[in-house]
Amino acid sequence: MTLGKLITFEGIDGAGKSTHLAFFAELLKERGRRVVVTREPGGTPLGEKLRELLLHEKMHLETEALLMFAARREHLAQVIEPALERGDWVISDRFTDASFAYQGGGRKLAEDKLVALEQWVHPRLQPDLTLLFDVPLDVARARLDASRELDKFEQEKAEFFAATREGYLRRVSQFPQRFRVIDSTRPIEAIRDELREIAGKL
Ligand code: TYD
Repeated sequence: MTLGKLITFEGIDGAGKSTHLAFFAELLKERGRRVVVTREPGGTPLGEKLRELLLHEKMHLETEALLMFAARREHLAQVIEPALERGDWVISDRFTDASFAYQGGGRKLAEDKLVALEQWVHPRLQPDLTLLFDVPLDVARARLDASRELDKFEQEKAEFFAATREGYLRRVSQFPQRFRVIDSTRPIEAIRDELREIAGKL
């Protein structure tokens, strides 16, 4: 039986989700929850090795999708499922919606293949809540720190991110009850107020 909750953070690169994740985890801890913060791809020793490959090696789009779900399988087995069974709350920086957005939307992998992988890897589990940090492309691009080396995804063209954002918004229309879209163009303090309101209702 699952006792804890799974909350996922999503958005295109530069949308600002990572800034807000640590704040949200603290809010839940203040409310007495035991919180596990993790990320995808990654979250386990093997998953972090796969992340290195995924973020830096060129590969066929199906290889990329399969490795994302391979890392996810390990993540579920080693981290997410045990935590939920203990009654902990898990906050994951990205999960399966990112595969639908990036591999499906961005890279145009047929959606039925992603649905099959999702059914294989987590047939029953879905996030209890997904926060989608949404910004127009130009805002996201401007936020990518020009001083650091960009990974394989961050180097993609504007069209890729437009299609990725559309991929996320398609998921929102398919599963409106579990998504909360956060207008991430607003100042940090306004977003924090919204996060406080969300945490207060959980
Ligand atoms: P990201 O979460 O943006 O980490 P950082 O903040 O350190 O840059 O990087 C992960 C990248 O992996 C991001 O560009 C999206 C991509 N990704 C996919 O393409 N598919 C997936 O299923 C997941 C989980 C991530």
